[in-house]
Amino acid sequence: MDARLATWAELVRSETSMLQPAPPQLFGRDSELALLIRALADSERGRARVVWIGGEPGIGKTRLAEELAAAATQRTTVAWARCVDAEAAPPYWPWAEGIRALLRTVTREELQLPVSCLKRLSALVPDLVHHPAMTARPVGRVTASDRYRLFDAVRTLLQRASSRASLVLVFDDLHQADASSLLLLEFIARELSDSRLLIVATYRADEMSTRLRETMGELARVGLQKVVLTGLGLKETGQLLTYLSGTSCSDDLVRQVHTRTSGNPFFVTEVAHLQSSDRDAIPDNVRAVLHRRVSRLSEATIQLLTVCSVLGREFDFRMAAAVVAPDGDRDLLDALDEALERLIVEPMPAAGESWYRFRHELVRAAVYESVSPSRRAHWHAAVVALMEQRLGARVEEHAADLAYHAARAEALVGSSRVVKYSRLAGERMLATHAFDGALRHFERAWRARNSVPCDDEAAGILAGLGLAQAATTVRWKRQEAWANVRRAIEYYLEAGEIQKAVAAVTHPSLAAEGVAGVTDVIRRLLPFVSEGSREAALLLARGAAAAYFETGSDKPTQQWFTRALGIASSSEDARLELRVLAQSLSVDHFAFAGMTRS
Ligand SMILES: Nc1ncnc2c1ncn2[C@@H]1O[C@H](COP(=O)(O)OP(=O)(O)OP(=O)(O)O)[C@@H](O)[C@H]1O
Ligand SMILES: [Mg+2]
Repeated sequence: MDARLATWAELVRSETSMLQPAPPQLFGRDSELALLIRALADSERGRARVVWIGGEPGIGKTRLAEELAAAATQRTTVAWARCVDAEAAPPYWPWAEGIRALLRTVTREELQLPVSCLKRLSALVPDLVHHPAMTARPVGRVTASDRYRLFDAVRTLLQRASSRASLVLVFDDLHQADASSLLLLEFIARELSDSRLLIVATYRADEMSTRLRETMGELARVGLQKVVLTGLGLKETGQLLTYLSGTSCSDDLVRQVHTRTSGNPFFVTEVAHLQSSDRDAIPDNVRAVLHRRVSRLSEATIQLLTVCSVLGREFDFRMAAAVVAPDGDRDLLDALDEALERLIVEPMPAAGESWYRFRHELVRAAVYESVSPSRRAHWHAAVVALMEQRLGARVEEHAADLAYHAARAEALVGSSRVVKYSRLAGERMLATHAFDGALRHFERAWRARNSVPCDDEAAGILAGLGLAQAATTVRWKRQEAWANVRRAIEYYLEAGEIQKAVAAVTHPSLAAEGVAGVTDVIRRLLPFVSEGSREAALLLARGAAAAYFETGSDKPTQQWFTRALGIASSSEDARLELRVLAQSLSVDHFAFAGMTRS
C-alpha cells in the first residue's frame, strides 16, 4: 500500500473506532424517513431523486441513511460509498467505492457493459478489467476529454444498473469529497434525471466547504431535497437512554441527559455509557470529537469561546467581548460569525439581540475544560469585576451569577465576595421557596466563611443554611438543621436582633415535628415582642405546634393556639390567619393519625 493510501486507511480506522454498536431500533425520525421513502418510491417510478441529509456530527445522518438502505434492500440495489478526507484519498474515491459496492451486487455480465466503458471505468476501479493492457490511465493524469469519457462511462453504468429495478447510491460524509467527485455528482444528477436512481448524501453542516455549497446550488436546479437533522426530542432521548442502559430511566435523568446533549444520539450514547457517578464528566469519545471541532477554529474564535464557556451555556456576546477586550480594542464579530457558521453556538433572539448559547452543554463543558484552571480563574475574576462595575447597586439581582463566578476565582476575588454573593443568592432563593438552590448557596457561603466569632453575617448564613436544610432534608435529620438555626437565634438574642430571631424560628420551612428545643426558644422570645402583635401570633402558633410534638400534651398547645388565633382574627391579616391555621392543622393531622392508630 502506498503512503497516501496508508494515511487515509488509518484515518478511516481512527474515525470508525469511535462508533458505538448501533441500537437496533431507530428512535424518532419518522417524518425524515417518510420523506426518504417517498423519494425512493419516486425513483422507482423513473423520476430520479437526490436527497441530502445534513446536520452536526453524531446527530444520526449515517443512521438515517442506513435505515433507508435497509428498507430499500428488499426491492432495489443499494451501493454505499463512504467519503474520506479529500486531501488524503485519491481523486474520485467516493465514486470508486460506490462502483465497487455496486459491482458486488450486480455482475458486469448482467450489466452487459461495452468493453470501452469498462476500460474507462477502470481508471477509477483498476481491478474491473483483468488485463493490464485494458487499464485506463489513472485519473490523476487525465485530460478534459478523458474526463468527459469517464463521466459518460459512469453514466452508462448507472443507467444500466437502474434500468430494471431502482438503484440507491449513498454517499456518506459528502463534505469530505474531492472537487472532481462533486463535479461527477452534478453531471450524473443532471444527466440521469429520468432514471430509476436515488442518490442519498450525508454531510456535516458545520464542515461545508464553498465547493460543496456550489454543488448544492447546482443540484437545487434538478430538484435536490434536503433533510436537516436536529436533536432527538425528550421522549426519543428517553427511549434511547432506556434502551442503552437496559432499564427504565427516571424523568429527571432523561431531562438532565437531554439538557446536556440536546438530544444528539452520539452524545446520548456516550453519556449513557458513563458510570452514574461520572454523569457530569465528558466521555472520552465526545471530548475527542469536540476537540477536533474546536481545534479547527481560528485563535480569536477559540479565545472568545473560552470566555463564553466561562459565562455559561447562555451568554451575552457583549459581555464576553468586553471581558476578552476590555478597551474595546478588538473587533470580535468575525470570531462570533465563525462560531455561528461552525454550529458551535446559536442565537437566542428571545433573550436579546446580543444573546447566544452553545448548541450543546457538552460543547461548552469541553471548551471550558480545555483551559487551564488558572486561566479559568482569571476569566471568572474578570467577569466578577465587570459585573460589579456594570451593575452597581443592582448586584443583588444577579447574586447567583456573581456567586458562581466568585467561587471559581476565590483566590483572586477574595472569599468575602464568595460569602457575600452566595448569602444574597441563598436568601433570594429561600424567599421564593427554591430550597435546593438556596441550600447550595448557603453551603458554599458557610464553607467560604466558616470562622468564629459569630457575627451578623455568620448568623445570617447559619439561619439560611438551617432553614434550607430543614426544607430539603429527611425527618430524622431535622434536628441537625434546627441546630444551625438555633445557633443563629442564640446570636440574635444576644445581639438584641429579636425580629431576625422571630423570623428564623417561625419560618415556614421549619416543620414542628422531629425537632426538640423549639418551645424553649419561643418562651425566651415571647417577652420581647409586644402582646397582640403579628410576631406574637406567629411565635404562639409555632410554639403550640412545637409543644405538641415535644411534650405530647394538648394543654399548652390549645392555650397557645387560642391566643394566636385570637390575635390573627382580630388583625384582619388573612395571611397571618392562614399561617396560624396551617400550624394548627399540622397538629390536627398528627393527632387524628394517632387517634386512628390507637
Ligand atoms: N434516531 C436514532 N435512534 C437510535 N440511535 C441513533 C439514532 N440516530 C443515531 N443513532 C446512533 O447514534 C450514533 C451516531 O449516529 P450517526 O453515526 O448516524 O451520526 P452522524 O450524524 O452520521 O455522525 P458523523 O457526522 O460523525 O458521521 C450511532 O451509534 C447511531 O446508531
Ligand atoms: Mg456519519
